[in-house]
Amino acid sequence: MRHTKVKDLLNSTTTLQEVNAKGWVRTFRNNQFIALNDGSTIKNIQCVVDFENTPDEVLKRITTGAAVSVTGSLVESKGAGQKYEIKVAKLEILGDSDPEKFPMQPKKHSLEFLRENAHLRVRTNAFGAIMRIRSVLSFAVHNYFQQKGFVYVNTPIITGADAEGAGEMFQVTSLPLENLPKTEEGTIDYKKDFFGKHTNLTVSGQLEGETFAMALGQIYTFGPTFRAENSNTSRHLAEFWMIEPEVAFNDLDANMDLAEDFIQYVIKYALNNCGDDLKFLEGRLLEEEKSKPQAERSEMTLLEKLNFVLENNFKRVSYTEAIDILRESTPNKKKKFSYIINEWGADLQSEHERYLVEKHFKCPVILFDYPSNIKAFYMRLNEDGKTVRAMDILFPGIGEIVGGSQREERFDVLVEKMKALGIDEKELSWYLDTRRFGSAVHSGFGLGFERLVLFVTGMSNIRDVIPFPRTPGSADF
Ligand code: 4AD
Ligand code: MG
Repeated sequence: MRHTKVKDLLNSTTTLQEVNAKGWVRTFRNNQFIALNDGSTIKNIQCVVDFENTPDEVLKRITTGAAVSVTGSLVESKGAGQKYEIKVAKLEILGDSDPEKFPMQPKKHSLEFLRENAHLRVRTNAFGAIMRIRSVLSFAVHNYFQQKGFVYVNTPIITGADAEGAGEMFQVTSLPLENLPKTEEGTIDYKKDFFGKHTNLTVSGQLEGETFAMALGQIYTFGPTFRAENSNTSRHLAEFWMIEPEVAFNDLDANMDLAEDFIQYVIKYALNNCGDDLKFLEGRLLEEEKSKPQAERSEMTLLEKLNFVLENNFKRVSYTEAIDILRESTPNKKKKFSYIINEWGADLQSEHERYLVEKHFKCPVILFDYPSNIKAFYMRLNEDGKTVRAMDILFPGIGEIVGGSQREERFDVLVEKMKALGIDEKELSWYLDTRRFGSAVHSGFGLGFERLVLFVTGMSNIRDVIPFPRTPGSADF
């Protein structure tokens, strides 16, 4: 007999004569009640064991973490909390779990402890919920773009172009590190390396994505990106997933419209498809908030926060306006910021971004038209000659969730900019070809997928929303 998923059994509309379920024991109470979970839903199914007719040796092996198969009838439950339960006729232990050694005991574990057990933490309610939501969100990403006719592009993970300047890169090499080949000048001879040149892991698929947008019109990437920045924060990973749409003929306003519509779509999709998991995480967050001082507690529950983003337009504010607001703000005047904002041109730190979003506007904010010298070389220069058509989307509790821009489509202006920054024109000649042959206005952005999952799940550390986090000093599993 084939086994049925717990989710389908719990959603059954009738009782059933004979069913089989397979899963892992969460708890076993009174030598009689198994709470069985198979990962299909956050809910467990209660399995009532006929303990009088089950040998003691078998009962002893029903321990937290053990894999079991239960066969029996699906009957209406007398207990509170569930409509159906399984009256077990036959129970089989598929895999034992030593109750003394299994780390995921049915009690509260710290998130740090769970991170050290990332291969088992997914067997807890919270991590099961987070990972199911992550999966649904990635489906929603594809759904959104596919419905709109975007072409999904797999940009390379190993790149020979290290000019984007989005962050420190990880080098990829097959050279023997203890015995590096040298040129006559005594430098490392990368001609002898695997690709015949110096290569890195990519920080972004954008530059390659642009070449595809200039042929296919609307494209998106969704893949892993790597940054070797030594930022040990709750918002940074060394390996993270990024979604990068790029659209020919879109200007910055159209780019903002796309980003806002896209984010609202995927959040709504999660609300419509992850009800049980979100409700669980909402409760978890409420518990967590209780341990915080009143002033730091969120005014909204998780579901209220998600709905708020759907119901309110993102506030669009120029960098210049933002600087004025920050300069006049109380924490700036009282020198509460670590970085005091004195003048136009300052780079915004996350404390400033969060002030704007959480204290001043109290809604998601799109900042645009940043000073040219704090943004990447490929962003389109405005008529004022000092700002570029950049945009960052800032979210409450997260800070920057999206970075994007209208691209500099004018060949001469772009080459000037590259020269000024010392970027090798020959290295990026292929990129410049998009501007040599049929150049046009185009725009795109990058959304950090884990920052989106952070927001939707209400978690506070980015290490808890990716299956196996990679951060400075840590690459276990
Ligand atoms: O702002 P960033 O660096 O933009 C780019 O890479 C552009 N090439 C995107 C584009 O225009 N196509 O990164 C985009 C987003 C950030 O807003 C943030 O959400 C996320 O990627 N991000 C990170 N997420 C986790 N860990 C890190 N170390 C991240 N660095 C950036
Ligand atoms: Mg950025």
